[in-house]
Amino acid sequence: MERILNLINKEAVRAFEAAGYDGSLGRVTLSNRPDLCEYQCNGAMAAAKKYKKAPIMIANDVVAELEKSEVFEEVTAVNPGFINLKLKKEFLSDYLQQMQADENLSIEKAAQPKTIIIDYGGANVAKPLHVGHLRSAIIGESVKRIGRFLGHKTIGDVHLGDWGLQMGLIITEVKHRQPDLPYFDPEYTGEYPKEAPFTISELEEIYPCASGRSKEDAAYKEEAMQATYELQHGNPGYLALWHHILDVSIADLKKNYGNLQVEFDLWKKESDAQPYIPDMVQYMKDEGYAHLDQGALVVDVKEETDTKEIPPCMILKSDGASLYNTTDLATIVERRKLFDPDEIIYVVDKRQELYFTQVFRCARKTKLIKEDTELKFLGFGTMNGKDGKPFKTREGGVMRLEHLLTQINEEMYRKIMENHEADPEEARETAKLVALSAIKYGDLSNQASKDYIFDVDKFTSFEGDTGPYILYTIVRIKSILAKYQAAGGSLEGAKIGLAASDSEKNLMLELTRFSDAIYQAYEEIAPHKICSYIYDLANDFNRFYHETKILSEGNEEQKASWIALLELTRRVLETSIDLLGFSAPERM
Ligand code: ARG
Repeated sequence: MERILNLINKEAVRAFEAAGYDGSLGRVTLSNRPDLCEYQCNGAMAAAKKYKKAPIMIANDVVAELEKSEVFEEVTAVNPGFINLKLKKEFLSDYLQQMQADENLSIEKAAQPKTIIIDYGGANVAKPLHVGHLRSAIIGESVKRIGRFLGHKTIGDVHLGDWGLQMGLIITEVKHRQPDLPYFDPEYTGEYPKEAPFTISELEEIYPCASGRSKEDAAYKEEAMQATYELQHGNPGYLALWHHILDVSIADLKKNYGNLQVEFDLWKKESDAQPYIPDMVQYMKDEGYAHLDQGALVVDVKEETDTKEIPPCMILKSDGASLYNTTDLATIVERRKLFDPDEIIYVVDKRQELYFTQVFRCARKTKLIKEDTELKFLGFGTMNGKDGKPFKTREGGVMRLEHLLTQINEEMYRKIMENHEADPEEARETAKLVALSAIKYGDLSNQASKDYIFDVDKFTSFEGDTGPYILYTIVRIKSILAKYQAAGGSLEGAKIGLAASDSEKNLMLELTRFSDAIYQAYEEIAPHKICSYIYDLANDFNRFYHETKILSEGNEEQKASWIALLELTRRVLETSIDLLGFSAPERM
């Protein structure tokens, strides 16, 4: 289905031409004075210079042509030369009827689908998921769903951190605590135990303990670095222990991401890139891209036009150990080989921006990546508490994601039970959905790159620009539709008719803008565009709802038309929230 703005534009182009002016001047935009008109065209102002004529005269000429169009109900030229446009009700209801009949709600699937890898989540095994990982999961999931909805082949990869110093730290700490385990016996030749020597909660205690110790004890840190090196170079006992760490930790991560309704297509890890490292390093040396700098192997990535210092990209440390950079570059090699992507989008904390600049430049310079593969960095800001500092627990510690979710669930449960008598079990399930909407919408409604304040009271409110408000609106619509059906009405077949009021026309206009919001969110990698669209749509719906007695309407045809309008509004809202990564309950 063609975008409504394109249809309107075509009319304007035709009118300019018919009036004897250059058609390209006929560009229409959404009105910035919705009190006066719905769309506007400022082409006559630009034409004035070109044709050396007063803009209002040109506007009048064009208006005379536009009046012949089937699209507009009202066309006016206003001084000094603006053209104000209002759509014909017939045109509008016709467009919405097409949308009703379109299973993709007017969205055209990509004619040439791209393969897009979205690198998000980025949790580190053996470290508990904390709120810092929340944004990556939420934003990445939405970016993936939007791309998929537009028909692209999207591949979401969690890219777990499992290959760095944290693994050496854990191995070292376990060794100190249980030195007799076979993993640490170099002579051991038997099979290693199947059971992990720790549970997830033990593991989560081991890492911070080891990390703390390494900061105070230089010898301990040295040991951990040595263990990391040995792990990366195939020490069998360490590898066996590392497998246990992965198994225990990934099971827990799957549960946590599941609760967030975040689903990865790939559960790849930094270590999966390991087999690609030796050849990649050799290639970089052979081609003369990499050189030694104080024992470390580096690739220079600075460019003449840089205004700030971009340090070289380090490929191997002087002891030969690989780094975060190494695995990221080798992962690019792997992804190219396995998926030949057109695009890779990294959804990572914006504090890693410089790092990704180095990695991207290095990948380009060394031609690890095909020339036409785009590497994009979507850096997000920090989630802060009400004090403006990074979000913490009340005690000042790092907030575990699990605990945050539980806290918001409880808050929503309390609100739901307070609002009305509800079955406690159902209320629990509803609370989960509403809590998720509060967290995700609260995050996604901000432009990703900005820091934002995680304000529990605001995010969980049923009023204002919040997830629960959107869900409340959807549930309200569902309840009207259910009542209509219970009284024998059918949702099938009814067509959206002509707008009977201003509030109805506004709602209809807003519905036609669905595709604009989605395409924009995709092109700009900006889920917040969908949030602001559905917030406007929900407001328009609620205004219409408060002014219109739908179910008690006596004219059955009119009633059926409104019901059809509600059903379309519901579909647009539910499709949109699905793209944001949450869903609505039946009741709340
Ligand atoms: N594990 C990393 C962290 O916690 C994030 C990974 C981001 N993705 C990547 N390809 N580097 O900071």
